[in-house]
Amino acid sequence: MRQHVNPLSQFFQLPLALPSKSILFKDSLYPIHLDIGSAKGEFLIELASKYPKWNFLGLEIREPLVNSSERKRKKLELHNLKFLYCNVNVSLDEWLSGLDYDQLKRVSIQFPDPWFKRKHMKRRVLQKSLLNSIARYMCKDGELFIQSDIFNLISSMMDVIDTSTYFDRKDLQGLKWLNKNPYKAYTDRELFVIKKNLPIYRAMYIRNSTSLSTN
Ligand SMILES: C[S@@+](CC[C@H](N)C(=O)[O-])C[C@H]1O[C@@H](n2cnc3c(N)ncnc32)[C@H](O)[C@@H]1O
Repeated sequence: MRQHVNPLSQFFQLPLALPSKSILFKDSLYPIHLDIGSAKGEFLIELASKYPKWNFLGLEIREPLVNSSERKRKKLELHNLKFLYCNVNVSLDEWLSGLDYDQLKRVSIQFPDPWFKRKHMKRRVLQKSLLNSIARYMCKDGELFIQSDIFNLISSMMDVIDTSTYFDRKDLQGLKWLNKNPYKAYTDRELFVIKKNLPIYRAMYIRNSTSLSTN
């Protein structure tokens, strides 16, 4: 399977109409945790099994990964979890607009593709427009969790978030980074980095009451 796909290629610019929450989940009124770039899906499978009164949605641009995550989900008969194929930068805003007020409570962006070269920075997933979509539909006090093993990448995500003013960094009482995944589950990449004993930069942001400007 290809390691990276170019999210800016014409093929991935086509907006996909994602099924509404009432089709995705058995009880569509539960709070929602959205994981962006869900890859093999293990992180959300673990959370969905542990927390039946939450709904979990994993979005992923590599379709074969979505298909295999869905096969695992179906085998486990998890009806509070769904994996969907899309480019979040193109298709997420429309889906979020169909949620009930205060329903989007958690968003995680974990080890997103780094796209190191300057000319490729526009391929990075956390762009201002995506952050604005999350901020527009997330409830007050909702959580935006980001983590990466690449310092430059976490810094650039934090720049996007801090510039927006819609989120406040959670006070870690003197610590610079969270030392564990706050949801007590691990992603594939996270386990790989832990095994290699490399640093992980984790930051939690909380949606404040600043409303979005219209422009
Ligand atoms: C490095 S992987 C990390 C996967 C997983 N979060 C983890 O920590 O193990 C980043 C994932 O984000 C996906 N991705 C990148 N850009 C995306 C986009 N615009 N929309 C949806 N998924 C995207 C990639 O295909 C890849 O599976």
